[in-house]
Amino acid sequence: MYTSEEVLRDAAATALLAPSIFNTQPWRWEVRDSALELRTDRSRQLAVTDPMGRMLTISCGLALHHALVALAAEGRRASVERLPDESDRGLLARITLAGVTEPADVRLRDAISRRHTDRRPFAETAVPDDVIDRLRTGAEARGVYLAELHADSLVRFQVTAARAGELDADDPAYQAELAEWTHRPADTRDGVTPATAVAPTPRKVPLRSFFPAGAEGLLPGPGHDGGARYLVLWTTDDTPADWLAAGEAMSAVLLETTASGLAASPMTDVVEVPASRALLHRLLDNLGNAQAALRIGVPATDEAAPPTPRRAAGDVIDTDR
Ligand SMILES: Cc1cc2nc3c(=O)[nH]c(=O)nc-3n(C[C@H](O)[C@H](O)[C@H](O)COP(=O)(O)O)c2cc1C
Repeated sequence: MYTSEEVLRDAAATALLAPSIFNTQPWRWEVRDSALELRTDRSRQLAVTDPMGRMLTISCGLALHHALVALAAEGRRASVERLPDESDRGLLARITLAGVTEPADVRLRDAISRRHTDRRPFAETAVPDDVIDRLRTGAEARGVYLAELHADSLVRFQVTAARAGELDADDPAYQAELAEWTHRPADTRDGVTPATAVAPTPRKVPLRSFFPAGAEGLLPGPGHDGGARYLVLWTTDDTPADWLAAGEAMSAVLLETTASGLAASPMTDVVEVPASRALLHRLLDNLGNAQAALRIGVPATDEAAPPTPRRAAGDVIDTDR
């Protein structure tokens, strides 16, 4: 018979597989008094790329959603308080168990270990509309909107992404931070590994380059992103609570994408670089606050994108015992 503490600890362990900005894994989990608490780990914040902690909080939102999916798939009803303590803003969520129920979200739970960021160009086959509908439903369940950048706005999105890439390329402090997180010693079990970086290749919309000089990286393969669709997650406000919700929504979108047999790569340089974010807001008709863009597509090859490392549960999850 599992104790509540064991159930909560297992959910936190599953959530370690969540994606995060530069694979910084900027979270801590604590199992205390039959509750599971999610905290930010500010020592892992990207000072140059993410000075406000938006991407850090979004990343923690992804971890929160992964933990909730793990509990739902075990048939555990969870009660969640988000940002429960105004005097302790590092405490992002407190999860308590509230009884048992029918297992739910099993497809999404099964997608957690199969999901990897795929930066290769996608196939010409179009992403079906019903998948986009399911992604939108998943995001809206967290109060987050999903806008699609259609053909008429794609040229302006291409300019927006290219501008972010140019400004980052000209910023030595950004380049130093990127180098730090793409050249990690193996024992840190974090960062973006060269095996997941894709060699430069012509594409419809440019992606942030993680490709280290002299590295082999991942071959781009036969795709040209012809069937890719470009989505933006946006919120009406722009507070830490919105960032957390955007992370939960992004997790719902990425896991549903994987469960549907498709692949994705987040594109957030367009949100991080203020000039690009302003362009993105104009693309959204200034309706709201862009939190992340995503490229979704049909993989152009059967070869799965490689996984990235994760820190050990014992280093990230505190338990009383
Ligand atoms: C908030 C956030 C922002 C991200 N931004 C980008 C990005 O701009 N470009 C990119 O290629 N990957 C981006 N990623 C993907 C991460 O680099 C990736 O999740 C991480 O390296 C772990 O790898 P995995 O997703 O394969 O598990 C982002 C992920 C998150 C959660």
